[in-house]
Formats: sequence, C-alpha cells, structure tokens
Amino acid sequence: MLEFYFIDTAILSLITVYLLYKLFTRNFDYWKRKGIPYITPQLFFGNYYDILMFKKTIGHTLADMYNKISGPYFGIWVFNSPHFVAKDPELIKHILVKDFKYFQDRTIASNEEADEIAANILFIMKNPNWRSLRSKMTPIFSSGRIKCMIPFMNKVAEDLVSYLTKLSHQTDSIEAKEVCAKYATDVITSCAFGIEGHSFEKEDAAWRSVGRDMFEFTLSNGFRGTSYFFMPKLVDLFKIRFIPYNVSQFMIDAFLKTMSHRKIENSSRNDLIDILIKLQTEGDFDGYKFEGNRVIAQAAQFFLAGFETTSSTISYALYELCLNKPIQEKVVTEIKSALQQHGSVSYEAIQDMKYLHKVVQEILRKYPVLPFLDRKTTMDWKIPGTNITLEAGTPVYIPMFGLHYDPKYFPNPDVFDPERFTEETTNSRPCFSYIPFGGGPRNCIGERFGLIGTKVALVHILSRFEVECSNETPIPIEFEPKTFTLASKVGLPMRFVDVKRRASYAA
Ligand code: HEM
Repeated sequence: MLEFYFIDTAILSLITVYLLYKLFTRNFDYWKRKGIPYITPQLFFGNYYDILMFKKTIGHTLADMYNKISGPYFGIWVFNSPHFVAKDPELIKHILVKDFKYFQDRTIASNEEADEIAANILFIMKNPNWRSLRSKMTPIFSSGRIKCMIPFMNKVAEDLVSYLTKLSHQTDSIEAKEVCAKYATDVITSCAFGIEGHSFEKEDAAWRSVGRDMFEFTLSNGFRGTSYFFMPKLVDLFKIRFIPYNVSQFMIDAFLKTMSHRKIENSSRNDLIDILIKLQTEGDFDGYKFEGNRVIAQAAQFFLAGFETTSSTISYALYELCLNKPIQEKVVTEIKSALQQHGSVSYEAIQDMKYLHKVVQEILRKYPVLPFLDRKTTMDWKIPGTNITLEAGTPVYIPMFGLHYDPKYFPNPDVFDPERFTEETTNSRPCFSYIPFGGGPRNCIGERFGLIGTKVALVHILSRFEVECSNETPIPIEFEPKTFTLASKVGLPMRFVDVKRRASYAA
C-alpha cells in the first residue's frame, strides 16, 4: 500500500515538474519561429537572471547582450515573456520617430489603483491620456521659461559653493554625489515650486530626505523599480507602489499647501505651480479629468524625474574632470573667459561655453543616467525591410549603454574625450547612436532644464574649486545593480581644492 503511495507521489511530482517546465518555457521558441536571432534563455528567468538577482545593472546587462549579436535586432526573454531589442540606429529612428504611432507607450507598469501619483506622471502614463497631458506640459519647459529660472539656479549654486568651501576646509574627501543631490533638490524646489529646500542647511532637510527615500539602494526600492520595469503584471496583481507611501504623502501635503497658499495670496511666480493652477481650472483635457492627485503628479514628476538625473550628471562630470586634468583646465579657462565677457552666469554666458557643452555631452555618453529606453508596440508592426511582424503588445528595448560604448560609433569608448562632439564628428555618426535623452515625441521633456541646471552647477563649482582624486575616489566605478539608474555603489568621493584659499596662501 505504502509502495503505491510513494509511486503515486513520485509520478505526480514528475508531472508537476514537467508541467511547470512546459509553462516556463512555453514561449522559448518564439524568436526562432519568427526568424529573429536571440540570446538563449535560462529556465524561469529568461535572460534576466543577473538583473533580477541584482548582480548586474540593467544598462550593463543589455549592453553585454548588444555585443553578443551582430545584426540590427534580436530577441530576449524576461521570465518567459519575449522582448524585442533594437540595435541599429536606423531601426531605432523608426521606433522612436518615424513609426511612433505604433510605439506610443512604454512597457513600464501603470496602474492608478496601485499608485495614483505614479500612474499620472508622463514617464509612466499610457495613451490617450499621455498625449493630452504632454502637450499641456510642454510649454513649461520652453527656453524662455528656463531662462527665467537661471537666477534661482544661481542662488542655489551660491549656497552650494559656500557649503563646499566650508566642508573643503574641514575634510580631504567630499562625496560629490550627495552634494550634487542637495543642489538638484533645492534647484527643483525653488525653480518649480517656489519653495526653499534648505538642503545645505540641514542634513535631514525634508526634501532631501524624501529624495533619499525614493532613490536609496534598498531591496524594497530595487524590488519596486524591477517590478514596474520588468514585471508589470505583478504590479497589477499586488497593487505595488512605485513611489514609497511616505514620499507620496509628503508631496501631496507640500503641493496642496503651496497651491492653496498661492491661491489665497493671489501671488504669481510664473512657475510650474502657477501653470498647474491654471490648467486645473481648465479641468478636462479630451476626457482626461485634471484634478486631485493627477495635478499633484505633475509637480511630483519634476522632482522624481529631474533630481536623480541632474545630480548624477553633475557628479559624473566632476569625477571625469578629476581623472582628466588637462580637460578640467580647458573648461576652467573657457568658463573664466565667458564670465569675464558676460559679467555673470547668465543664459547667454552658458550658451557661449561650447567646450563645457561638449564635456557634458561626453558625460552623458559615458554615464547615461537612464541607460536604456523602453517602448511597447500598440499595434502590429512590420520590421522595416523585412516580412517579420511584431504583434501588438510586444515590449521593445533600446540598449542605450550598448550604443554609447560601441567602438563603431565611439572609438576607444572607455576614453573620456569631449572632442567626439565637434560638429564634424557628430555629423559623421548615425543620428540615433547617441540618445541620452531618448528621442521622438516621447523624449525627455526636461532636457533643457537638466542641461542648464547641470551647467550652472559646474560653472559655479569650477570657478572656485579644482577637483582632484582623493584616496576614496573609486577607480573604476562599481555600479549599483539595485537601481534602474546608473549609480556608483559608494557615491563619488573626491577632493575639492579651494583655489581662492590657495591663492591667498601663495600671496
Ligand atoms: C541630465 C538630465 C536628464 C537626463 C539624462 C534625462 C533622461 C531621460 C530619458 C532617457 C528619458 C526617456 C526618453 C525616451 O524614452 O525617449 C526621459 C524622460 C523623461 N524625463 Fe528626463 N532626463 C533628465 C532630466 C530631466 C528633468 C530635469 C526633468 C523634469 C524636470 C525630466 C523629466 C522627464 C519626463 C517627464 C520624462 C518622460 C517624458 C514622456 O514620457 O513624455 N528629465 N528623461
């Protein structure tokens, strides 16, 4: 009797294992059937073992796959779900621009019941709401408006320099990423919301703490990001939040107070908050009711999308300038000459700093903060020049990190060389081989704001400090796999030498 029981159990277990195996591998012949080259998947994880186990960053994993396949595109699996990866710049142009009507949404999860604020930020929103809102938000980022924000940025940059001056006299190594995060926090709160962030005054300033809660490398943040980007069904099933609850509540509270204060005072700064109040009175955009947390989401997105990206770009620039002293000297010479000519850090002075622009472009090549793009086919799409059709609903990745380090477009890709961005060299490369801000109608709406905010900080810092490697500077950088952005595990510590102080000693 017992014998039969064991035999039954063994048979049942075998059948279960077989059925599970079939379930997890049921799509593993998908790309072969389509005649698309693919990277062999692993049971259960597909090609995402390293990402899901937080062993390697998403940017590096996709870049490694990019380097394995020589053709213009290939297929991979996230668990058992087939994902298409586009490599060729001309094909990427089709996806982002020419055939945009097939690719209007991202793959990332969007669920108002799980997280009402996150579901209404442009990055996460789906159509048709995205289209209605994007056109309303675009004027906020016009060059005219950004020009008006420069005095606010300068004020925060002055606080940054005072903070660094004090700190540099006390310590040999300063963590630049944290300092830049304080700057980016205060720039955004000041330019967009008319609120003082006080990040340089108090280590535990409220807005800076909220930024830490959102982006620190914890397992729960890693899980949240991974679920939204790669397991959208899990988000729908378990109503997983993208923004931690305390961060959402803090933002709701802060924005409601600011908006009601503006309304009561009847004051105007012509900033994001004023524009949101005006849009709220219009109320309805093509059936998208603009009210409640949907309004708050637009303010929150400025902080969520702008803060990590800008602070990372500034700190990576300082890092590379530590390692490349002749380039640092050249930028400083240009900054001095432009400031002499213009008298202050104005929009025009920054526009004249052409070499600084090349430095920032090269930083965004080597360190694209968001190292991949994602889209989803919303209709069946025929891959140009083939008879292969991708069905509606297929997730698509563009491995930006792979492109930016492809020696075909950027010879000796590990070398930091701003001269890659002379007009001539830029024109000699295919257009969509360099895409730090994405491309097409769904590109980064904050590109101008991010670039100006980055340059204002660099101009102020480099006018007062020489940056050098300290004993703690990580060479090479080890990147943190628990975040979807490109971040150094230990931050970016370095030495800030106060040149004014050095000059006074020398005299
Ligand atoms: C150096 C700074 C920045 C970098 C490198 C960057 C990069 C990116 C990238 C790669 C995308 C995806 C584009 C695509 O899929 O084609 C994106 C989207 C976006 N970015 Fe940025 N960003 C930066 C600064 C900012 C700032 C300062 C803001 C806002 C204040 C912002 C707001 C957004 C928004 C709202 C989207 C989604 C746009 C949409 O789907 O319509 N970004 N950004």
